Amino acid sequence: MKAWTCETLEGVQSLRLVEQPIPVPGAGEVTVAVHAASLNFPDLLIVEGRYQFKPALPFVPGSEFSGTVLAVGENVSHLKAGDRVASLGSVGGFATHACVSATAVSRVPDGVDLDDAAAFAFTYGTSHHALMDRAALRPGETVLVLGAAGGVGTAAVQIAKAAGARVIAGVSTDDKAALCREIGADATVNYATEPLREALKTLTGGKGPDVVYDPVGGDLAEPAFRSIAWRGRYLVVGFAGGGIPALPWNLALLKGASVVGVFWGDFARREPQAFARGLAELWDWYAAGRVKPVIDIRLPMDQIHAAYARMGSRQVRGKVLLVNH
Ligand SMILES: NC(=O)c1ccc[n+]([C@@H]2O[C@H](COP(=O)([O-])OP(=O)(O)OC[C@H]3O[C@@H](n4cnc5c(N)ncnc54)[C@H](OP(=O)(O)O)[C@@H]3O)[C@@H](O)[C@H]2O)c1
Repeated sequence: MKAWTCETLEGVQSLRLVEQPIPVPGAGEVTVAVHAASLNFPDLLIVEGRYQFKPALPFVPGSEFSGTVLAVGENVSHLKAGDRVASLGSVGGFATHACVSATAVSRVPDGVDLDDAAAFAFTYGTSHHALMDRAALRPGETVLVLGAAGGVGTAAVQIAKAAGARVIAGVSTDDKAALCREIGADATVNYATEPLREALKTLTGGKGPDVVYDPVGGDLAEPAFRSIAWRGRYLVVGFAGGGIPALPWNLALLKGASVVGVFWGDFARREPQAFARGLAELWDWYAAGRVKPVIDIRLPMDQIHAAYARMGSRQVRGKVLLVNH
C-alpha cells in the first residue's frame, strides 16, 4: 500500500508518499481499501500543527474517506469483508489502504455511490448539527451562509433549503455566487465587492437574517453580527479566513441575539445517539434528492499537493476528492 505520510509539521510540502505493507487489523480495528478521500479544512490545519487534535508524528492525514472493507479485527461485529463503508476520524484516509478503529466506520447505504460517501458526513453532519440542532432553524426563516461555496458552506445552503428556509449565500467571487444559486440559494452577496451590511439590509427589507452560519470569521463576523435579526442566532462554525473575531457584546444585547458554538466532532463523541439520528436524516434527504455533495474536482491520490493548493488558495467549490480508482 501507499500512504501520504506527515513526518514534520511544515505543511503539505513535507508530505511524502511512503510504501508499506497493508496493515492487519488489531482488536476493534478494520482495514479498508480506500476508494476516495475528501479534503476538509482540518486536513490543512493538521499538517501544520494548527488543528486542535495533534496526532503523534509520523501520521497519515485524511479525515474522511470511503472504500471497501478488506479485513476486520477481533470484537468487530457490525462490519465484514466486502462491506462498502465510509470512515470519519482525524487521520488515515490519504492512502490506498487505511487501518482505523471500527467505531469510526459505518456502512454506506445502498444506492449511495462511493464518491458521494467520501464527501458527505463531515460537511453535511456539521451543517445539519449547526442549523437544525444548534440554531433550531424554522421554515420561512432567513439564513445567511458565509463561505457558502466551500465544503460546509454548500452543505449549509442545501440543508437550509431542505428545511424550508430562505438562503442568502455570502461568497468572495461571482463564480462562487453562480454555483450557490445553482444549488438553491435564493440570493447572493459578493462580500469582496459589496458592503455586506447594506446588501443584507436590502435583501431582507431591513430585518436582517434570522440565522448566520459562519465558517469564515475574521473581518466578516462583525458586519454579519450587526446585521442579524431580532432573536437571531449566530453560528460560530470556523475561522477559515484566519482571524478569530472579537465582537462587542452589546450587539447581542441590542438584538436579543445568541452566539451559538458548533463543535461537531465533540457532538459526535458526547451525544452519539443524536449524532446518529442526524446522519440518518441526512441519508434520507440524500435518497430523496434534497441534498447531494458538490464535487469540485476528482484528483488521483498521488496529486495531493494540487488538492491542498486548491483549498489553501480559496479556490474550492464544494469538495475536492482524492481517488484511487
Ligand atoms: N465547528 C465544526 O464542527 C467544524 C466542522 C467542519 C469544519 N469546520 C470549519 O469550517 C471552516 C470551513 O471548512 P471547509 O472544509 O468548508 O473549508 P473550505 O471548503 O475551504 O471553505 C472555506 C471557505 O472560507 C472562505 N475563506 C475566506 N478566507 C479564506 C482563506 N484565507 N482561506 C480559505 N478559505 C477562506 C472561502 O469562501 P470565500 O472565498 O467565498 O470567502 C472558502 O470557500 C474551517 O475553518 C473548518 O475548520 C468546523
